[in-house]
Amino acid sequence: MANQLKLAVLISGRGSNLQALIDATIEPTFPAEITRIISNEPDAAGLERAVEADISSTIVPHRDYLDRQSFEAALDKVVRDSGAELIVLAGFMRLLTRDFVDAWRDKLINIHPSLLPSFKGMHTHERVLEAGVRFTGCTVHYVRPEMDEGPIIIQAAVPVLPGDNKNDLAARILKQEHVIYPLAVRLIAEGRVRVQKERVIIEDAGLSAPTSTINPVP
Ligand code: GRF
Repeated sequence: MANQLKLAVLISGRGSNLQALIDATIEPTFPAEITRIISNEPDAAGLERAVEADISSTIVPHRDYLDRQSFEAALDKVVRDSGAELIVLAGFMRLLTRDFVDAWRDKLINIHPSLLPSFKGMHTHERVLEAGVRFTGCTVHYVRPEMDEGPIIIQAAVPVLPGDNKNDLAARILKQEHVIYPLAVRLIAEGRVRVQKERVIIEDAGLSAPTSTINPVP
């Protein structure tokens, strides 16, 4: 397909979200394509997925750089040389500085395994269980300099069920991550996503969810 949005996908680990993006973008009619996969971890399991999908990958090992600025300068160069127009963070475990984030403003997205703005940061599932909330989920958002902040593009909610442990929750959420991340990329690539006053407006957005979901149901 002509005029596909070019993506750079940044990973640090197993890359299951990367795989969901590979599977989606392989479809000839999908409006985006992955031009480069970048890992800061030389041993990231996700790099194998790049090889299998025949997509070029680059390792930018953060430990080889003296400071964040020089690491990010190298990262920025790899992304720009690849021609990517949108950076997709998919389990990328390095905090990015304000300079980098500002340079890619509204062209840099992330997925987080909670319903933001609740449960920012690490160990979300443990904290969800501790708090006793009845729903959790995942969020795709534009990146801003503060961690797990930024205009929300799409969310999926999942129930917290009796007896759940953190692995149950992680698995239930991950399944939804693999649905909403490609969906968010598609909406952006179709030019249907706008940021206005730090809120996301999506043109012709459908509503697949019921107007209310109750958990538990007595
Ligand atoms: C996902 O849970 C994602 O929400 C978070 O990091 C994890 C990455 O998993 N940001 P994977 O590497 O995509 O399998």
